[in-house]
Parts: sequence; structure tokens; C-alpha cells
Amino acid sequence: MKGKASAPAKIILFGEHFVVYGNPAILASINRRISVSAKKGKKGKVTIKSDIASGEFEGSTFKLIEGVNARNALDPLYFAAKQALDARKQKTGLEITIKSDIPYGVGLGSSAAALVATIAAVESLLGRPDKKKICEGAIEAERIIHKNSSGADCFVSTFGGLIHYSRGGGLKKVDSKTKLPLVIGDTGIKHNTGELVSSVRKLKEANQMVFAGLMSQAKDICNQALVALGSGNIGQLGVLMNESQLLLNRLGVSHEKADDLIDVAKSSGALGAKMTGAGGGGAIIALAASKEDSERIASDIKAEGFAAFEVEIDPIGLVIG
Ligand code: PMV
Repeated sequence: MKGKASAPAKIILFGEHFVVYGNPAILASINRRISVSAKKGKKGKVTIKSDIASGEFEGSTFKLIEGVNARNALDPLYFAAKQALDARKQKTGLEITIKSDIPYGVGLGSSAAALVATIAAVESLLGRPDKKKICEGAIEAERIIHKNSSGADCFVSTFGGLIHYSRGGGLKKVDSKTKLPLVIGDTGIKHNTGELVSSVRKLKEANQMVFAGLMSQAKDICNQALVALGSGNIGQLGVLMNESQLLLNRLGVSHEKADDLIDVAKSSGALGAKMTGAGGGGAIIALAASKEDSERIASDIKAEGFAAFEVEIDPIGLVIG
């Protein structure tokens, strides 16, 4: 008997960082996934194996199997699996195997997707999985990694599609009247979301008025983006992505390599481009007018020596079974 689940990566089109302080964000899940299978194992032991880190937990002891910084990467997953066991007073062990085609540590939501899929796989092994509870469990576990998580990543990975999200207002599906040919460029520079969120908090505390102004501009951009999506005005979306990047530059969370990739994408004909996620390197997204343009943009980024790939919006989110 195995529990199986898969959950998608995500991009943030508008509103990262500002979403932590209650602003809206527009996100989409994309067609890159993490798949998890879980089966019962030796009593009291939880073994987690993934491509980047593997280890075995027994009570408070951790035995490294493989990977650098494995404990940090695996702790939230263990916490989530243990919660599911404890909620059912189950003493059984677990063997969890994770396979991913999401680049990790670059803002594409791999840790949220891993949590969502792991909880779903364990829940489906032990009982009846419930998407809302899985999402809540993933957010709780994510807060071990960065305690101020807005929850946006877990929501979009669980429920899928193009969404409007805010901490107070939750999730609303967004209907786009236009296809969004999107390209991801990867600087390859791994970031630490918690540290970047803390750096923004410091900036906010030191410059309350300036930050309030940036929040208001970011909100405005997000609202205009909703209108542009609703009317299919893809050119305007590109303009808004560029404006959004200027605000992220003001927060100091972008990176010169990300800025370089944004320039490459724009010179290659992107309608707009910006970093996505926490920043500090990580990935950028570029919006193209057509499939032909997105192919060219991806190939121009690759020609500069960086990974790039075209993505589509995944309308499904978490798949269980
Ligand atoms: O880079 P990621 O995938 O960890 O995205 C973080 C998004 C932030 O807005 C910076 C933080 C959050 O909790 O929403």
C-alpha cells in the first residue's frame, strides 16, 4: 500500500514580499511538479529520500543518508509527516520518496510543493486527505523555514491555476482572457527566503513612510494587472511586470544576475520581465507576445549560459493518487 501525490511549482507574477504584509499577489502554478510516494515503514522511523537530501528521523535523532544541509531541508517535511501520524495516534514508521523536476531554492516554490505533496501522500496512505487541511498543514510546516510565510506558495500549489491571494482575503481564481507565454530564466543562485524576508522587514522598520508608499504602488500594480488579465491586455501586463521589478529593486531584493537576465529577455522581445519569488538571485519570469517569441527568449537566455525554459500555467494543483 502506497500513498501518492504530486504538486506543482509556482511563479509570482505580482506582489512578492508585499504579500507578507497583507497586500494582494497574483500567482500561478506551473507545469513542473514534485511527486511523492509514502509507504509504512519500521515503527517510529521516518525515512525521507529526495534528489537533494536524504535522512532518517527517529524521535529527536536524525541520521544523514545523503546531502548537504540535509537536516534543514528535511526538518519541515518530517514535521509535516509527524503531524499527520500524531493526529491519528499512529505509531507506524514511514518511508517517503520525493522526485522533483522543479529547480530548488530559486523562488519556484519547490519547498511548498514538496510539503503539499508529502502531506497529501501521507494523508492518503493513512486516511482521507482533505485539500484545505493539507494546505494548512503545509503552511504550518513552511513557517519552520521562514516564520513570516504569507502562505501564498502553499495555496497556489494546492489549488492550482492563476490566483489572486492575500493573507486576509485568501485565494480567488483569476480568469485570464489571454494565453500567457512565459519563460523562466534561472540565475542558478540559490536564495534563502527567510533572510530576504527579514531584510525587507528591516527596511520597513527603518523607513515606514517609504515602505508604505511602495506597498501602495505594489497594490495598485496588482489591481491594474487584474484588469489587464480580465481584458486580455497582454502588453499592459508586460508593462506592469516591469514596474513591479522597479519596486522590487527598491526593496533591494533583486540581484545583478537577475537584472542581467531581465535585460536579456527584454532585448529579446519580452513584453515585460521581473524576478519571481524572494529574489537574491533565483529565477526571473519573462512574458512573451507569442510562442515564437517565448522560444526565442528562452534560447537567448540559454545563449548567455543560464538555464531557461518555457512554462505553462497548470490549472490543476495538487493531484492525489
Ligand atoms: O522564493 P519563494 O518561493 O520562497 O517565495 C517567497 C515569496 C515571498 O513573498 C518573498 C514570501 C512569502 O511568504 O510570500
